[in-house]
Amino acid sequence: MDWGKANRISKVIKQDGNCFYLAMDHGYFQGPTSKLENVGKAALPLLEFVDALFVSRGVLRSQIPPTIETPIILRVSGGTSMSGGDLSHEGITTSIDEMLRLNVSAIGISVFVGSEYEHDSILNLAQLVNWCEPYGIPVMAVTAVGREMEKREARYLAMACRICAETGASVVKTYYCENFDKVAIGCPVPVVIAGGPKTENDFEVIEFVYKGIQGGAIGVNLGRNIWQNERPRAMACALRSVIHERHNPKQAFEVYESFER
Ligand code: R5P
Repeated sequence: MDWGKANRISKVIKQDGNCFYLAMDHGYFQGPTSKLENVGKAALPLLEFVDALFVSRGVLRSQIPPTIETPIILRVSGGTSMSGGDLSHEGITTSIDEMLRLNVSAIGISVFVGSEYEHDSILNLAQLVNWCEPYGIPVMAVTAVGREMEKREARYLAMACRICAETGASVVKTYYCENFDKVAIGCPVPVVIAGGPKTENDFEVIEFVYKGIQGGAIGVNLGRNIWQNERPRAMACALRSVIHERHNPKQAFEVYESFER
């Protein structure tokens, strides 16, 4: 691997082989999202706990100070909205020049396997990998389920992850599910998990992140279950202890409970 790509990867996958990405890209198709009305305000108190921040270029330029040390993973797909038609009808929104100008450590694109726009979506990923490889920019493929939450099961996610990896993604983001080890084993590149809608209780989040890592994920790309939590810094600190300090759910929950109020 060329020095540039290895250097970027070392920023987003830490020396212990694990990673913690804070996902704050939701506005790109949802618009203002509860607790994410101002991404900058929501992000800055959390950055000390995470390894990278996942945002779009508009938010990056307008709300994130260029002096931050946290690596950026740039969301580069879009073109749909919650009030429009099919969420899977995405295209690539950002040129390679922009990615380089913004000095990002990696980029992220959604891939909608099994959707009406599956073909375009997979070719978007292929196109991005073709653009990014010569410059050493790692691509994170996001296995998107759109509104179809029932797709969050091992058989579908294993297929989606494998296709993303075979198409050239350096990392694949997927969801935790029952039999998650089947998803991770079938994917030849590292897998990270997302959270989805906020869970009923706080322990549940810590537990599924722990189980995901036990099942083979190297970390998380997590959003709502952190910044929609009543105590986002406490949750970020607890999750960091699972990801980088090998805490079990009970130990991590103690971190959450005892975090400064
Ligand atoms: C969807 O908006 C994005 O891909 C998010 O980055 C991803 O779903 C992670 O966020 P959450 O944990 O809120 O699902």
